[in-house]
Amino acid sequence: MTITKIWHVKKAADEQLSTQLTEAARQLREGGLIAFPTETVYGLGADARSTAAVERIFTAKGRPSDNPLIVHIAAREQLDELVLPYPPLAKVLMEHFWPGPLTIVLPVRTGALSPLVTAGLPTVGIRIPDHRTALALLAQAGCPIAAPSANRSGRPSPTLAEHVLEDLDGRIDGVVDDGQTGVGLESTVIELTGLDAIRILRPGGITREALQQAVPDVSIDSANEAEPESAPRSPGMKYTHYAPQGELELVRGEAGAVVFYIQEQVAAARARGEVTGVLAFDERLGSFDADRLLSLGSEAELDAAAQRLYAALRVFDGAGVQRIWAEGCEEDGIGAALMNRLVKAAGHRIIRV
Ligand code: TXA
Ligand code: MG
Repeated sequence: MTITKIWHVKKAADEQLSTQLTEAARQLREGGLIAFPTETVYGLGADARSTAAVERIFTAKGRPSDNPLIVHIAAREQLDELVLPYPPLAKVLMEHFWPGPLTIVLPVRTGALSPLVTAGLPTVGIRIPDHRTALALLAQAGCPIAAPSANRSGRPSPTLAEHVLEDLDGRIDGVVDDGQTGVGLESTVIELTGLDAIRILRPGGITREALQQAVPDVSIDSANEAEPESAPRSPGMKYTHYAPQGELELVRGEAGAVVFYIQEQVAAARARGEVTGVLAFDERLGSFDADRLLSLGSEAELDAAAQRLYAALRVFDGAGVQRIWAEGCEEDGIGAALMNRLVKAAGHRIIRV
């Protein structure tokens, strides 16, 4: 057991922030494991150059070691010592989207990072987070920080420091608490597949539409997660990142049919004595009746829904819900990332009605 220290920085003025982060930054430099907020979700950070430190991430999370980690830096100046020369398109994307929730897979410089970070791949995913506390901590630590989401493997990513402690208290050295994260879903991971082509490996905070608008002449495709290759392009894709303790079914179709189907299923499950849950949008919340009824907000405000998703899934787990039904949404904008996480949570159980 480790004593997990908590630094509350939510109310810190900008000039106090770096003083409040001094100890956390020192621990990172010395091989510690520190969870910190980003604009997407809380990350579990360790010095990306140190195999001993990175090994502790995998142990604390219970994460399979063939799944590479994203490296976080404070500024573009740190990039050249980590990666080999990259195509101009990557630079254009950095200029548009960094700091921000875009992870770019680049050719790694041999020896620059622990091989555990890249899981043996010749590439590394890198981003500069758009979050004052993350940036201050990264700058003060002064080294590249590997940071997957700060949850136990198989649990929803944390959007609050409390979620981090739920999963990792006693297993990590500390957590910097700066309240709720912004986007609520992880960064978009992309790779360059040509001089004018990119592939979205994981949809996230930077939408396909935003990418297309920034680089209109570039072709954008998406990795097909439904049919993973034997050696997936993005190793994380082959894992169910989160599977609720209860069985989740994602229901798609015309609204009335979705309500009818779910209510029929809830009634049948209740007759079997199962604890039921429904995850729905405000527009139809009143039409459902289940033991646990949770709202993602309005379907007209998918940004807010993205912020709420992971916390809602944690509530179902905490309440011992055995069967969950979730409504789907349109896959435009952030809706693509939202549906991607729901499909994963459903273990690909998608019902069309
Ligand atoms: O928003 C985020 O990205 C959060 C915060 C903490 O920054 N981090 C995060 O890390 O989600 P993680 O480790 O949970 O997700 C890493 C994803 C996985 O899907 C992994 O397979 C992919 O990025 N990835 C990492 N390195 C890669 C590489 N070299 N090639 C392809 N995919 C890679
Ligand atoms: Mg994760």
